[in-house]
Amino acid sequence: MNILGIETSCDETAVAIIEAKGDKKSPDFTVRSHALYSQADKHAEYGGVYPSLAKREHAQNLTPLFEQALKEAELFTPEKTSVPRGKIEELLEREPELAKALIPLLEKTARPDIDLISVTSGPGLEPALWVGINFARVLSLVWDIPILGANHMEGHIASVLFAQKKAQFPALALLVSGGHTELILIKQWGSYEKIGSTLDDAAGEAFDKVARLLNLPYPGGPHISRLAAEDRLLRTPAQATRFALPRPMLQSDSYDFSYSGLKTAVLYKVRDMGELSATDKREIAREFEDAVTETLLGKTKRAVDEYGAQSLILAGGVIANTHIRDTFEHTFDIPVLMPDKALATDNAVMIALAGFLEHEHALPPGSNLRADGNLSL
Ligand code: KG4
Ligand code: ZN
Repeated sequence: MNILGIETSCDETAVAIIEAKGDKKSPDFTVRSHALYSQADKHAEYGGVYPSLAKREHAQNLTPLFEQALKEAELFTPEKTSVPRGKIEELLEREPELAKALIPLLEKTARPDIDLISVTSGPGLEPALWVGINFARVLSLVWDIPILGANHMEGHIASVLFAQKKAQFPALALLVSGGHTELILIKQWGSYEKIGSTLDDAAGEAFDKVARLLNLPYPGGPHISRLAAEDRLLRTPAQATRFALPRPMLQSDSYDFSYSGLKTAVLYKVRDMGELSATDKREIAREFEDAVTETLLGKTKRAVDEYGAQSLILAGGVIANTHIRDTFEHTFDIPVLMPDKALATDNAVMIALAGFLEHEHALPPGSNLRADGNLSL
């Protein structure tokens, strides 16, 4: 089956088309196309994602990305078509910006060979989620294609379906992104139990906030990671850091995390220092990255043991971090599954893959989907 994935939950606008063969036990996927536009630069001056700007950007960029994805997948057939506007009037009124671009595309395209539309319905920024949902509903109605509201976090988990190794169950997933830090017990694909999560900031958010304290651009993760790697080359572990940071919650019995204190600890250290030197920044970046890695690792190790996990899944934007990837890979003797770095951060391939995992729950064309900013696994 051909699955169209649409992702607009945060500051990435993405459209992908995958072809899925086989069942969930031994699926086989081909990515036929993947179009992605990151708004990160546009949000950089706000130091985080600005919801109304995200909504506007999604509305402008979704149609051109979709056209590009159709063409790349060789599913674009030019054909003069009359669009049943009556059917979709209400949706178009709700999204005038989107309609301006989408209607002309629909008027020149034959129905593509797509069997399922999987669109992120949460968690995320609701105004941003609605753009993707309304876009998906228009396509579903006009082309009579079943539709499914995908959970963005299940998408991150599903991103490992492309990994070389196969998941063995029960599996444990560590999801680490800009909005979430969670440990999930997975009995089978589709059966999830959250056993721990952050009590305050997500780990990715802490990367972004600490980056800001060091005057690095948003999103901060990749910049911190680069500086930390430089410090590892320049300073041996024996040379103690001048910036020792806490390892929050590491000793607690729960599987919960906490990262706001770590950011505050960095703030207190840099507050009275005036201008930070390049060496200071490298050293802080490394100590911070170590603190995040050790807290993630400590909790995950304990959960793997307690729940007898047969494989470990790592996913979410922070899993693009080389140090975290390497550390986890060298610690466990069960298979560790991770997406390629490019599929770790938000994308639409993972949303199409989540659609594959949930396809028996697809809804009839045009069904009412709602955005749910707080959707949980
Ligand atoms: O999953 P994602 O793309 O979006 C959300 O669903 O939140 O994750 C984005 C987060 C950002 O906080 C970003 O700083 C972080 O992932 N990130 C990284 C790296 N690349 C992205 N954090 C640490 N190291 C990286 N290399
Ligand atoms: Zn994400």
